Amino acid sequence: MPKLANRITQTSKKSYGMVAKAGGLAGSGRDLIHLELGKPFHDTPAHIIEATVDAMRRGEVHYSDLAGLYDFRVAIADKLVGYNKMEVGPQDVLVTNGLTQASFAAFMALVEEGDEVILLEPYYPQHLGKIEMAGGRPVTVTLDPSDGYRLDPVRIAAAITPRTKAIVLVNPCNPTGRVYSRQELEGVAQLAREHDLFVISDEVYDHIVFDRETHVSIATLPGMKDRTVSMYAFTKAYAMDGWRLGYLVAAPALMSGLAKIVATEVTHVNTFIQHGGRAALTGPEAVLRDMVADDQRKRDLVVARLNQMPGVTCPMPQGTIYAFPDISAVGLTSQEAADRLLDEADVVVESGAFYGPAGEGRLRICFGSESTERLTLAMDRMQKFFNAL
Ligand SMILES: Cc1ncc(COP(=O)(O)O)c(C=O)c1O
Repeated sequence: MPKLANRITQTSKKSYGMVAKAGGLAGSGRDLIHLELGKPFHDTPAHIIEATVDAMRRGEVHYSDLAGLYDFRVAIADKLVGYNKMEVGPQDVLVTNGLTQASFAAFMALVEEGDEVILLEPYYPQHLGKIEMAGGRPVTVTLDPSDGYRLDPVRIAAAITPRTKAIVLVNPCNPTGRVYSRQELEGVAQLAREHDLFVISDEVYDHIVFDRETHVSIATLPGMKDRTVSMYAFTKAYAMDGWRLGYLVAAPALMSGLAKIVATEVTHVNTFIQHGGRAALTGPEAVLRDMVADDQRKRDLVVARLNQMPGVTCPMPQGTIYAFPDISAVGLTSQEAADRLLDEADVVVESGAFYGPAGEGRLRICFGSESTERLTLAMDRMQKFFNAL
């Protein structure tokens, strides 16, 4: 039996991919523009920071409930009822260290040695690593780029075998920027019901949807509540990436296993951080709206500029903070283009192939991590690069 770490063939961007490569240039004096990592541009809103500092000063520095502070879970449940349209209460919620720990718990609790887990490609690489860590076998299903990476039930059904345990969904999708329609989700839900599968649903971008798109949580579709682990975080929408705060929601039959894993791993999330999370959920909603509106303006800028570059075609992301332009016409692989943009244009973007072979011919560009001025400069540099090819 290999050590756990040896099972993981691919890990996070911080140790692999352009983040690691550009990180090696820190201190080189080069003016790199970083569009490779989904790190929010804004700082955490002040009222969230104040509530956290207040909590520390009040002495909220001791152990909390293992599942998370009760009042915090009440606020989360209210958000899930109001925004995600779920019928849940605080007992259905487990507070985690970011979405990363929620998905760790989900894969560890649901996947047994030899189980197959379907990953839709392009996929989020950390999910792949966690399936492997749990002893499962990731089975990738390639979504069709020419069909807008639509959730295609025929392709997914073809990958289902008697060993299939779960389907992983990322909605809104990193890296494609797709926000799946109710009808697309219904196709996946129908397969899950028919074949008795779980759905592990990463909804870290649930608030970051544009043009009045509606985010639909697959757990709200008929028959899905008991077979879905829905996972969220404060990371992106509230600009709280360094706080490491997230949560999952699951049916009672799954919750005991999930809670056991989190309690065994970390006991619980830092108590005062949870007070900050509660302030985020109960504080002014305008803060969230303004940050998403800023993301939308930046999306519009970046997508318009990318579409002016020769050989580059960029579909409009419906959500997330990523553009996923098609550069297959320029005669470079994704990795070659990302490497040359770093070397020749001082712009760091991620190769589409980082998200699996279905991402070949694409770049992933984060428009949510820089100021408008820096994004404009990045687009000027990229324009010059593609003009000169
Ligand atoms: C799809 C997806 N899931 C999970 C995460 C990680 O979330 P967290 O920082 O809350 O652990 C990210 C971060 O980029 C993401 O894009």
